[in-house]
Amino acid sequence: MKKLLVIISIMFLMNSCTKEEAADKTPEMQKTDMKASELETPVNKEEETENAMSAIKMFAGALKSELKKAIEEGGPVNAISVCNTRAMEIANKVSEEEGLKVGRVSLKNRNPKNAPNDWQRKTLEDFEARKAKGESVESMTYAEITEQKNDRQFRFMKAIPTGEVCIFCHGDNIAPEVMTRLKELYPDDRATGFNIGDIRGAFVVTKEFPG
Ligand code: HEC
Repeated sequence: MKKLLVIISIMFLMNSCTKEEAADKTPEMQKTDMKASELETPVNKEEETENAMSAIKMFAGALKSELKKAIEEGGPVNAISVCNTRAMEIANKVSEEEGLKVGRVSLKNRNPKNAPNDWQRKTLEDFEARKAKGESVESMTYAEITEQKNDRQFRFMKAIPTGEVCIFCHGDNIAPEVMTRLKELYPDDRATGFNIGDIRGAFVVTKEFPG
């Protein structure tokens, strides 16, 4: 049934955009026509940004407190397991609860699953450029609403600065026992050599809005 509807709408769209008709319309009008199917509620960017920020706060807060506790209890080697297993678990839990998808990406990622896709890579590169121009990493964010076919996606990213505690496992002077464990878990680890203040990566939030 859904498939049929999709086919009908595609045919309708194609039909309403025949060359003849399109030729005597300004690009503006054609755009309006294309958007005729959009009677859905508009996506509120401010509202979604707030939701994204609160999901990130939950994820980051939970991760930070577990990391801190693990380091205090058993040092950085012990704490690796928090990042290794808990990071994804917490991200999945927050995602489910908040009805969105939250995660982390980096240009120099440790876990291959945290490699950025095209738009995320572009945004991370843009973050580096913004930092080079003097913008504060602490408050650096990016938000957009994209439209593909009938689907809309809210995309949000927030830069993650490298702090003092991060250096234990992401710096360039990592203790040998920490390094050994990291190598075991992440043979393709690229997340070392960071200095305090560097952009370690970014939180990513996406939310789908079917049209
Ligand atoms: C105890 C070691 C340890 C400490 C300390 C640590 N990390 Fe990590 N970090 C890891 C591990 C292990 C992963 C891989 C997590 C995974 O498999 O999902 C990781 C992954 C990440 C990622 C996801 C991108 C990637 O490289 O895979 C970011 C971003 C990140 N860490 C930021 C930080 C920041 C910021 C701090 C300091 C507040 C920090 N980390 C402190 C061990 C650590």
